[in-house]
Amino acid sequence: MKILVTAGPTREPIDPVRFISNRSSGKMGYAVAGAAVRLGHETVLVSGPVALTPPEKVEVISVVTAEEMLAAVQQRIGWCDALVMAAAVCDWRPRSPCLQKIKKLEMSRGLQLKATPDILRIVRSRKENRIFVGFAAETRDVTKEAQRKLAEKGLDLIVANDVSQKDAGFEVDTNRVKLISADGKCDSLPLMSKNEVAERIINWIMSKDKNCPPDAGSAKGRTSSPPADISIDGKR
Ligand code: PMT
Repeated sequence: MKILVTAGPTREPIDPVRFISNRSSGKMGYAVAGAAVRLGHETVLVSGPVALTPPEKVEVISVVTAEEMLAAVQQRIGWCDALVMAAAVCDWRPRSPCLQKIKKLEMSRGLQLKATPDILRIVRSRKENRIFVGFAAETRDVTKEAQRKLAEKGLDLIVANDVSQKDAGFEVDTNRVKLISADGKCDSLPLMSKNEVAERIINWIMSKDKNCPPDAGSAKGRTSSPPADISIDGKR
């Protein structure tokens, strides 16, 4: 299969020295790309700014902002059989980034924000037979919120993370997730390494691929082919 993975945060510039971002280290998305390659798939990784070495045999497209990530995903969506959106895309960006460093006193006027593009919603029109997997990073009502995103974004699978736990979600090497599929199944996985979570996700994708033999879920199974506007103080 051809698998397109996104990873890491996006950075949305405020001025030349400041940005809005989040705590994503990219570990989860890089683990997904690594598992995809190990299991014999051609893999392209669209990565936000992270401090990780990409897995071997993965083509990496480096991006910074949500707009750039959208452009990279749109460019490769026609190529892929499956999309795994592990990236933590910023939901908001400064409405008008300044070309010059903003003075401390000017900042007190507040920061005007604008919604970034929702990448999954935008590429939904090009889903066709492709398998779409999203992640949901939540701190409360994890399952309910993940199910809502699964339906709203037209996904086949959503990986629900409770990011309020110390040993799961952002930055750490382990994760405790629920795999919730569009057919209503919910598989609660115990605490495991992000590499193991990643393999579960790729195996799930392979189980849905009509061209994939049922015993292909091991590294030996396939031969490796070449590979609304708002301000930060709440005022509109
Ligand atoms: O990178 P790590 O430190 O290893 O941490 C892993 C992780 C917590 C970042 C990752 O496992 C994770 O949960 N990624 C998704 C985080 C997130 O942005 O969730 P969300 O609930 O805001 O978004 C839901 C889905 O929509 C995600 O698949 C996201 O990639 C996608 N999205 C979000 C916003 C946007 N503008 N466009 C999108 O496509």
